[in-house]
Amino acid sequence: MKGLILSGGHGTRLRPLTHTGPKQLIPIANKPVLFYAIEDLKEAGVTDIGLILGTNMPEKVKEAVGDGSRFGVNITYIMQGEPKGLAHAVAVAHDFVGDESFIMYLGDNILKSGINEFVEGFQDSNYEARILLQPVENPRQFGVAELDDDGHVINLVEKPKVPKSDLALVGIYLFKPTIFKAIDEIEPSWRGELEITDAIQELLNKNLKVDSHIVRGWWKDTGKPEDVLDANHLILDVLESENNGEVEDGANIKGRVSIGKGTVIKGNSVIRGPVTIGDNCYIDAYIGPYTSIGDNSRIIGGEIESSIVVGDAIIECNERIVDSLIGNHSNIVSKENSLPRGHRFIIGENSLVNL
Ligand code: DAU
Repeated sequence: MKGLILSGGHGTRLRPLTHTGPKQLIPIANKPVLFYAIEDLKEAGVTDIGLILGTNMPEKVKEAVGDGSRFGVNITYIMQGEPKGLAHAVAVAHDFVGDESFIMYLGDNILKSGINEFVEGFQDSNYEARILLQPVENPRQFGVAELDDDGHVINLVEKPKVPKSDLALVGIYLFKPTIFKAIDEIEPSWRGELEITDAIQELLNKNLKVDSHIVRGWWKDTGKPEDVLDANHLILDVLESENNGEVEDGANIKGRVSIGKGTVIKGNSVIRGPVTIGDNCYIDAYIGPYTSIGDNSRIIGGEIESSIVVGDAIIECNERIVDSLIGNHSNIVSKENSLPRGHRFIIGENSLVNL
């Protein structure tokens, strides 16, 4: 079975972070979200992977992933260009997939329990597609499935105004090559995209069988800043402690904390896990629970909690930063005598914030 990971799209809901790179490279617990998809596929035995690239700095994805050998997989890059829809991305990958069954994984989705159970038995089944579902509170933001009393899929609608159920389509799908013909037969949706949801509905219209599974554990689509921070919480919930850096006497470290190589935690610091701190950081501050600090960051004074600092940042202030997404090479400084206040930032790469 082949794998297809979608890493195109504009990532508009994650601007300004996506002004300087694709959303699939935003780190969750210091690892790009896309890497979780590659690892899930590898874990399920899928090592021949096509990676769909869009127009938003695709070279950054190539640089991060390479030929896949560091993950134990073989990556083939497939250029989609403009994001004309998930089904369009699949059609563009037809030559790569050939005549095989394949798994498609949206590169901004992240799952707790991997995909082994989902993939099992599909290839030899008489189903043309298998979808993954999860009950959600806001089904209108997703593709939504309607099942009959026996649990068979009877209807699928992309982002319905009046959802027939609360079962959202997770962005991980299994297909037989019949999907290509179904894609040929659909028209662009109201948002101008060729929807994979419509192509699966087309299989149903032809009385072909579509199977469904319900997700075990959590699932996150990291399309918006709050979803990225939620995913960071969920991954840090299972973080293991590790110390490869230097913790000076007097530093107060509690809970599960991972510290990278060359990182120095100064004696006045307080770190309350779960927290992950990358390599070559300098920390002389309070770092609160559910925070990820990327490589080469200097954090001096103040408090950061429940936030992601992508990396190469300088944060030198006596303020409190919460629920924030701080892009690469950002610089946040405050005047020496300013009063401590709370802040929430979503800031892109190379930003300078003077408090
Ligand atoms: O996350 C689950 C949802 O994903 C499903 O419930 C929906 O049925 C499905 O349509 C999709 O909805 P989104 O609106 O979240 O899709 P988005 O435009 O964010 O694209 C998903 C991923 O695919 C993202 O990593 C970008 C990539 N992509 C997107 C498009 C439109 C491409 O590579 N090419 C594209 O043309």
